[in-house]
Amino acid sequence: MKVTVIGAGTMGRGIAQVFAQAGNDVILTDVYPKALENAAGEILKSLGKLHSKGVIQDSPETVQKRIIFTGDLSQGKNSEIYIEAVLERFEVKSDLYKKLNDLAGDDSIIASNTSSISINALSSVIRKPENFIGLHFFNPVPIMKLVEIIKGERTDPNVVKKSLDIVKQLGKVPVTSNDFPGFISNRILMPLIREAILTLEEGVSTKEDIDQTLKLGMNHPMGPLELADFIGLDVVQDIMKVLYEEFGNSRFMPPITLRNLVNARKLGRKSGEGFYKY
Ligand SMILES: NC(=O)c1ccc[n+]([C@@H]2O[C@H](COP(=O)([O-])OP(=O)(O)OC[C@H]3O[C@@H](n4cnc5c(N)ncnc54)[C@H](O)[C@@H]3O)[C@@H](O)[C@H]2O)c1
Repeated sequence: MKVTVIGAGTMGRGIAQVFAQAGNDVILTDVYPKALENAAGEILKSLGKLHSKGVIQDSPETVQKRIIFTGDLSQGKNSEIYIEAVLERFEVKSDLYKKLNDLAGDDSIIASNTSSISINALSSVIRKPENFIGLHFFNPVPIMKLVEIIKGERTDPNVVKKSLDIVKQLGKVPVTSNDFPGFISNRILMPLIREAILTLEEGVSTKEDIDQTLKLGMNHPMGPLELADFIGLDVVQDIMKVLYEEFGNSRFMPPITLRNLVNARKLGRKSGEGFYKY
């Protein structure tokens, strides 16, 4: 199968990698040559780790050769599926979709990896909205098993079925969701993280004990504060803001502590400090 992944950042390069691992021909494209260069290096590194652990049998070079890294989107012509993983901004995605409208065949699936923008809203700029769907992968893509499949009002049931098959072919586990803010995952996760932050803010307990409670009492692999640091506190705040705005419900309101940390650029793991120091 020919697959085009647009956006070679954190998510796009992981998505390109898992499609290549499953034996597909992949075009990975980005507007920044540097992003493509970084992606090539990161993919090879990740494939090397998976190979040495015996997770993949093919050599990293063999898998990598299935990916064409290019700034030229037109090389993606006649792909069976296009997966968009560009910035989380409606205008950036819709500008790109206008180009994809010319490139994609009548049967090509166009999928977005958006975490918070409405699939129905995005589908309004797609020439054949019945072929448009959300495929929400999780970071790090080569490791995380789950993919949320988001059905828009106009998504053809056959496109849902094909998407389920594609996700399974990657060795991932799909769940389906209708197009509601936060889909399944963030709708449930964000109030959990928010409540953990409020539990800390109100002095109920320490960050360590709050995380320990969820890890040992509820069998979560990571505590909610640790997880927020891992996702990035700015990203967590942005998702909460979207959910708060869309639902108009305080259960999604970003807590003051979160705002203060983000304003101080304490963004979690990526900046060296968030709720914890790294
Ligand atoms: N990071 C996560 O944990 C995560 C998880 C699930 C979903 N998502 C979603 O995935 C998408 C990408 O997120 P990310 O974290 O990989 O972002 P990122 O910033 O790491 O990468 C985005 C890439 O898109 C490129 N880009 C921007 N405009 C482009 C265009 N017009 N054509 C081609 N490339 C373009 C940028 O150069 C950049 O390399 C977003 O919609 C985000 O909400 C992110």
